[in-house]
Amino acid sequence: MRVLNTRNELVNLINNQKKEGKTIGFVPTMGALHEGHLSLVKESKKNSDITVVSVFVNPTQFNDPEDLKRYPRTLEQDVELLKSVNCDIVFAPSVEEIYPEPDTRKFNFGYLESIMEGAKRPGHFNGVGQVVSRLFDLVAPDKAFFGMKDFQQVVIIKYMVKQLKYNIEIIACPIVREENGLAKSSRNTLLDEDHRKNAPHIYNTLKKARSLASEMGVKEIKEWIVNEINRNPFLDTEYVEIVDDTTLKVTEDWSEPGTKVACVAVYAGKIRLIDNIVF
Ligand code: PAF
Repeated sequence: MRVLNTRNELVNLINNQKKEGKTIGFVPTMGALHEGHLSLVKESKKNSDITVVSVFVNPTQFNDPEDLKRYPRTLEQDVELLKSVNCDIVFAPSVEEIYPEPDTRKFNFGYLESIMEGAKRPGHFNGVGQVVSRLFDLVAPDKAFFGMKDFQQVVIIKYMVKQLKYNIEIIACPIVREENGLAKSSRNTLLDEDHRKNAPHIYNTLKKARSLASEMGVKEIKEWIVNEINRNPFLDTEYVEIVDDTTLKVTEDWSEPGTKVACVAVYAGKIRLIDNIVF
């Protein structure tokens, strides 16, 4: 496994692999890797000749400087984990390497960024667009792998790929959970013991809501989810939304066609967790 820090090294190595006819799978990450990320790497290994993983905490997608400061950084451990799943190339650049000059591009994701994460974290998806497009330009992958925990991000990346005419297949992979149901997230390491113990209540609530959905209207089930999560004194719901899985259109009535996904953002103390479930 090669660990590279500069764009030139990365582009040279990838060009050589491409000359040999190798296909490239790409897993972009912000590090603090867990089994969710490793499942993406495994999927990439199955579907590509060479797997590239980037480890880069992208400052432009954080709208809260405190959140950026406390985001976990564990590069040495990440490299060991990536070795254990036979990753081929790790790209761990500095901020200057990715942004030699500030990125002033403004993406327009339209309606897709007007709700949920886009509404609560202004500028977040613009930052995601900036870094993912830069990484796509450098890695030039055939396929890129993203986790469904960041469901809205997956929809937006697919849209960006179409808008910018990238010839990259975006593969969305299932959420990996702890045994107690908590969605794996780099942010879980920031939870104290009490919040960690209580955070699985989020997914348990989503599962119960799915089984109750046929007995309630959309508005009622959303209220039920908020009340049920907030019943736990360690949790505080920021939003609950039920949306179409491709257009993100907010569901108003169960009779609307299409697959529906219930999405939540919940504060566990100071730590903000997101999760979702297909209804
Ligand atoms: O999902 C993430 O970890 C990040 O948003 C991504 C895609 C690596 C871009 O920084």
